[in-house]
Amino acid sequence: MVSFYLMLIAAYLIGAIPTGILLTRLSGAADIRKSGSGNIGATNVYRVAGKKLGILTLVGDALKGAIPVLAAMQLPGLAPAHIGVVAVAAFLGHCYPVYLGFKGGKGVATALGIFLVLCPLAVLGAFAIFAVLLWKWRYVSLGSIAAAAAIPLLIYFIDGRLAMVATTLFISLIVIWRHRQNITRLLNGSENRFKA
Ligand code: G3P
Repeated sequence: MVSFYLMLIAAYLIGAIPTGILLTRLSGAADIRKSGSGNIGATNVYRVAGKKLGILTLVGDALKGAIPVLAAMQLPGLAPAHIGVVAVAAFLGHCYPVYLGFKGGKGVATALGIFLVLCPLAVLGAFAIFAVLLWKWRYVSLGSIAAAAAIPLLIYFIDGRLAMVATTLFISLIVIWRHRQNITRLLNGSENRFKA
């Protein structure tokens, strides 16, 4: 059990690594917290610092979710609920990072990494919803919110285990909550449209 608690702490600390801030600082780009939407995630890095750093941030933030979950799956004797808690620790690390005074991102890419490991088929369904909405309206936030709303249902039908559904529901609710400023901007028509 000690290894499980150590894994929880490690998952949080890995999730908390601010990929977007590190990459933009290394490349000498503007502080993403003071530009664009002010978010530290891949969409804002893409918007402020360009495609290459945006994609690298997406991959880095997704790995922060995938690696702790993959590691937890290797520990003997862990129940699905334990793996779910490790996933939540990594996700909360990204959203509330100790290194940034607990002011982190919206969790979409880290959740993507987590669900790619837990249930890739559900990610495929959620990604289809995301892609259609992005193609039609050019709002990344709208696609992210819709995908977050859909994934608990997809996990319920594809995986069905209570621990996995509860983990997904918790993560999705926080993703949507952290998009509340985007929701206000979507409603008043001032949300940033995605420019490829
Ligand atoms: O993943 C975050 C995305 O859904 C919205 O990002 O920068 O437009 O607030 P942003």
